[in-house]
Amino acid sequence: MTLRRAFRASILHCLADPGEANASSAIEYFDDGLLVVNNGLVEQLGPAAALLAGLSADVELIECRDKLIIPGLIDCHVHYPQIDMIASYGTQLLDWLERYAYPTECRFSDAQHAAEVAAYFADALLRNGTTTALVFATVHVESADAIFAAAEQRGMRLIAGKVLMDRNCPEQLRDGPDGGIEASRKLIDRWHGKGRLSYAITPRFAITSSNRQLQAAGELAAEFPDVYLQTHLAENAAEIDMVAKLFPKNRSYYDVYDRFGLSRARSVFAHCLNIDDADRQQLQRRGAAIAFCPGSNLFLGSGLFDLRSASNSRIRVGIGSDVGGGSSLNLLRTLSDAYKALQLNGQSLPGFRALYLATLGAAKALYLDDRIGNFASGKEADFIMLDSSSSPAVKRRLSQSTDVAEKFFALMTLGDDRAVAATYLMGRSVFTAGE
Ligand code: GUN
Ligand code: ZN
Repeated sequence: MTLRRAFRASILHCLADPGEANASSAIEYFDDGLLVVNNGLVEQLGPAAALLAGLSADVELIECRDKLIIPGLIDCHVHYPQIDMIASYGTQLLDWLERYAYPTECRFSDAQHAAEVAAYFADALLRNGTTTALVFATVHVESADAIFAAAEQRGMRLIAGKVLMDRNCPEQLRDGPDGGIEASRKLIDRWHGKGRLSYAITPRFAITSSNRQLQAAGELAAEFPDVYLQTHLAENAAEIDMVAKLFPKNRSYYDVYDRFGLSRARSVFAHCLNIDDADRQQLQRRGAAIAFCPGSNLFLGSGLFDLRSASNSRIRVGIGSDVGGGSSLNLLRTLSDAYKALQLNGQSLPGFRALYLATLGAAKALYLDDRIGNFASGKEADFIMLDSSSSPAVKRRLSQSTDVAEKFFALMTLGDDRAVAATYLMGRSVFTAGE
């Protein structure tokens, strides 16, 4: 079996943040490019004309010149158990949790159910071009085991954690007297650093954890600095009011997490719609990241994220689908929502910046930019092939342009899961449309 493969296609990736001042060198594009993969890692990238001549005979050449290769997409915030209640009608966050999310999550005490949903979810990610995700399970250990096993089986780089909750939620979803800490510790032991998997300590949000549980989660985070931490922050007005009542002494919602030691490198806060400059400064100082979840913010009517202020504060930001609050796992759809949500907030999002938020920027948010996010030599060869004729609308619009920035923006605006022709993990095909 050949270990080396070369993919000939149009190839696009980010070298840096196109939103920053010296943006001209942030993007690399080869109209007729060659991506050489050796043993799952990127060996070389460049113009096909130059590289083909020097390619040794043992390299398997894969011709896909009508496709656009980009790095695998990275979802910085998603709830796998909510895949079955996606697109639930008519409520905002707190009612939505009670009416739809919690009842759905109750079913995950059943390991068999968890395994079936996890397998569906992992395949759905790959079908949508998402190769890495930071994932909420439910409070049940079985649910975390199931998503890790599904990712391991498929060779995906994935981070997940069992939810921590011990108040203001249904009895069946409540952690026991030790606040779920020992269960989290066992899961860290079982999965963190195993192959491409990492663990995330996962207090759901400040409303559903007692002071004691938040304190214990902070202590666990300090004990395991290379383990992730994920939670929700300042998403919805009623939620923010309730947090202010539960934690009257804290300066802000963010401050609650900060004081319990939950904000540090590898902490990812979803939403952050209502934070101030003091919070931003502290988020940046701590090395924490924000998951920008525009699909969810629109669907649940939560509000508009201020990307410009986050960027000006130099906070790490990645895109998140937040399914089931978000109504699509597809990150092209989510980026299109991002553009629209930012427009409503007097901001904009060029296509290349959107690409960054779902690839290299997301990898930086997750401290994985030494492994994934672009095609720098030595990185893991997770990538997708996009199809510029995936629907009549995409085909017609893209035929009107030869400029790659314009084409990518149109593809992100018009595209959906049909645009993903193939998905590769470490140079290995894991999804091909139509097969
Ligand atoms: N805040 C607390 N839990 C959740 C959840 O499951 N989804 C979203 N969008 N926000 C939350
Ligand atoms: Zn969420």
